Amino acid sequence: MRHLLVLAAAVSLAAGSVSAQSPTPQQKRGAYLAQIMDCGGCHTPGALTGQPDMKRAFAGSDIGFGIPDVGVFYPPNLTPDPETGLGRWTQAQIVAAVRNGVRPDGRVLAPIMPWKSYAVLSDADAKALGFLLSLAGLPRRAAEMEDEVHSLRSKSQCDGPSDSFCRTCD
Ligand code: HEC
Repeated sequence: MRHLLVLAAAVSLAAGSVSAQSPTPQQKRGAYLAQIMDCGGCHTPGALTGQPDMKRAFAGSDIGFGIPDVGVFYPPNLTPDPETGLGRWTQAQIVAAVRNGVRPDGRVLAPIMPWKSYAVLSDADAKALGFLLSLAGLPRRAAEMEDEVHSLRSKSQCDGPSDSFCRTCD
């Protein structure tokens, strides 16, 4: 329960920082969806240990998720900082990452990012998550993922077409 309360606080803080202007109905919807879909529960520093850093909501986690024989995946910075966050992403690219698990560079996201469940989001709800681009950009680089990217399996090692770790490899 404490975890839930903390997350609610993280998201309401994020919703509050949506603006210099007041948030649009679409941005409010996006903040609501981010709360119930728990984006901040993974992407806010400290949230995974129950101590979210509210001033850096959505700015990425220092705690990664390890998958045996694949690597450790850190939830990246989702604020619109151009160098370390989503600042150079379009709303459509965010939708593609959330619903299809594909980054703009074509890399498929590890299923720890629950994009297979998020695949059923309606167009309107997926677009509403673009509210992330209206937050203040917080420069904060997530831990490097190079090792993990290199450890994705080659196609010859795939378990079949549903094996999401293989699609971008050859
Ligand atoms: C259970 C933890 C978890 C939750 C919940 C979660 N994510 Fe993620 N997310 C991750 C991880 C881990 C990655 C990195 C995966 C990888 O690099 O393969 C990621 C990657 C991403 C990326 C790609 C960013 C980049 O720079 O590559 C986006 C965009 C994203 N998440 C958005 C969201 C949104 C929006 C939500 C809520 C609707 C959300 N995530 C919920 C764990 C999570």
